[in-house]
Amino acid sequence: MKLQVVFASSNEHKYEEMKRLFEWTNIELLFGLEVLPKGLDVEESGKSYAENALIKARAWSEGTGMPAMSDDSGLEVEALDWRPGIFSSRVAENDESRIRRLLDELGRRENRRARFVAALSLVLPQRAQVWITEGFCWGKIAFELSGSFGFGYDPVFVPIGYEASFAELGPKAKSLISHRAVAARALSQLLSSGGF
Ligand code: IMP
Repeated sequence: MKLQVVFASSNEHKYEEMKRLFEWTNIELLFGLEVLPKGLDVEESGKSYAENALIKARAWSEGTGMPAMSDDSGLEVEALDWRPGIFSSRVAENDESRIRRLLDELGRRENRRARFVAALSLVLPQRAQVWITEGFCWGKIAFELSGSFGFGYDPVFVPIGYEASFAELGPKAKSLISHRAVAARALSQLLSSGGF
């Protein structure tokens, strides 16, 4: 039987990606808002993705009494001194204004190198265990938005080796090469080495 784990987030897009990534494992991910309909307001007070991922997973595990997994992620842009980073979701109030702000800041600059980073944390209270992994996905920021899949900065992020944005490439490409996919594979490898 699969181990039921609550996904500590109210972001349905992230949940759909994560569910797909763990489908073949012994973990069944449940959407946070289905387990706790009002969600949990957790302050992301950590200084790193890993710290924030752990804070969220711990809070949801304590709030539900279940094992919990969380993702903390962000976009880092070289020409902006690797901002917005861990503050990616907090620089403006919705995806559209976050993207607009990013494109305005970058202007016509040639160096558009960027990377997505994701830290995943899994808290297993019954085993008194905590697992954390990180994944990266390198690429560049496009001059304009394109595509309609995904969320966040997907319409302006073109992964290395491709000529289209994540929002054009869609879920199949993301589940192969995204920062979340890399971190999820590392986590499932750790889990299988730990007897899952
Ligand atoms: P948090 O992990 O909820 O604090 O927010 C992460 C933020 O980083 C999101 O709101 C997006 O703006 C951005 N982000 C993280 N992963 C992705 C992705 O896969 N595609 C697009 N944007 C992402």
